Amino acid sequence: MTAETARSLHFSAATSAFQIEGARTADGRGRSIWDDFVDTPRNVIDGSTAEPGPDSFHRVDEDIALLAGLGVDRYRFSISWTRVIPEAGMNGSVNEAGLDCYERLVDGLLAAGVTPEPTLYHWDLPVALEAAGGWLNRDTAHRFGDYAEVVADRLGDRVRHWYTINEPASTSLQGYALGELAPGRSLLFEALPTVHHQLLAHGLVAPMLRDHGAVQAAPTLNHSLILPATEAEEDLGAAGLLDTIMNRLFADPLLSGRYPDLSAFGVQMPIVDGDMDLISAPNEVYGFNYYNPITVRPSAGPVPFEMVPTPGAPVTGFGPMWPIRPDTMRDFLIDMAHRYGSALPPIVITENGASFPEPETTTTEIDYSDRIDYLNDHLGAVIDAKSAGVRIDGYTVWSLLDNFEWADGWSQRFGLVHVDMHTGTRTPKASYRWYRDLIAAARS
Ligand code: BGC
Repeated sequence: MTAETARSLHFSAATSAFQIEGARTADGRGRSIWDDFVDTPRNVIDGSTAEPGPDSFHRVDEDIALLAGLGVDRYRFSISWTRVIPEAGMNGSVNEAGLDCYERLVDGLLAAGVTPEPTLYHWDLPVALEAAGGWLNRDTAHRFGDYAEVVADRLGDRVRHWYTINEPASTSLQGYALGELAPGRSLLFEALPTVHHQLLAHGLVAPMLRDHGAVQAAPTLNHSLILPATEAEEDLGAAGLLDTIMNRLFADPLLSGRYPDLSAFGVQMPIVDGDMDLISAPNEVYGFNYYNPITVRPSAGPVPFEMVPTPGAPVTGFGPMWPIRPDTMRDFLIDMAHRYGSALPPIVITENGASFPEPETTTTEIDYSDRIDYLNDHLGAVIDAKSAGVRIDGYTVWSLLDNFEWADGWSQRFGLVHVDMHTGTRTPKASYRWYRDLIAAARS
């Protein structure tokens, strides 16, 4: 990596509220779909419930000190809707204590010289809104607007960089279509209207944030390069379908104001006049999460494709379905720049990282070379894409801390910092030291 190119990137680390905060009933917090999901037996692989875990609700000062020690420019965290409006969808009254906790975090970050970058929605929908249809219901986008405005009224004088909706693809495909994540519904392609309502939620909220002084109000999208299992026509067809549903279904409406052809899925998007203008209004940046490519072949099941291991690729702690192929990140970025041209604003890599098997407790620095290699090689891919002309403004490691990996509980560790999930003890890993030194070198 050339130091000069690295110098032009903003560096960040990311977390999300439900994954690190613990303290699920503290200070009047209400329930989200993730509370219901983790409290239902057998949903989470190790039976864990996101508590106590990193317990960042009580240890926010330690997190800020770790960020300051890393030297990151920014910290991407998320705000819990049900801390701010505990009974959203029922009485809707604001919980000042919930806002206070994010105000403390924001003020602490600013005092430490780290720019706060809150995400307003990282998967934790209030339960009453889910009972009313969740993201299948257009009204959820408007309720999100109410909540976002409450947060902007309190923090908008200090927060200038916002993310709106995180990974609508994961919510729609894993949450509503396949039932792997909350709310655990298995609607297959009937889940697709949830895409439109999440994108609409972004489109409604971004102008309001700008009215509150934001210089950035963007969604974060997860993308994967889709590889056909072979060059056979059926495999290419399966790869085309998955590329449509996982990538173009999100990028096309945001960047070109149109959905791709969805006739193969038998679904009509519930578009109302004016929606596509809201959704495709330009954003300052494009938030881009990338972890791995996906290899597919056709399937006879109700879903016409299935994922298979990517031949020849090393894998992360998740095994064969999380192959390590940094070249695919570079290729995807370059393809995107060609596909969307000047409609694509500068990209911020808002998540990139990997889990590897690590001990539950430690008293000394751990992390073998795997995570450092993964991050170094993916950052190299980002720099290569940048050198090839793709506008890229920032790079963010997922994650600052080991945290609650959704249905995988505590079993997958992505952190630059090891966390003992019983005591909350934080121990920086070798990759923390690597990232700190890299940022320092880029700034020298
Ligand atoms: C999500 C994170 C998650 C990470 C690793 C992303 O899909 O935004 O919440 O922990 O990937 O799976």
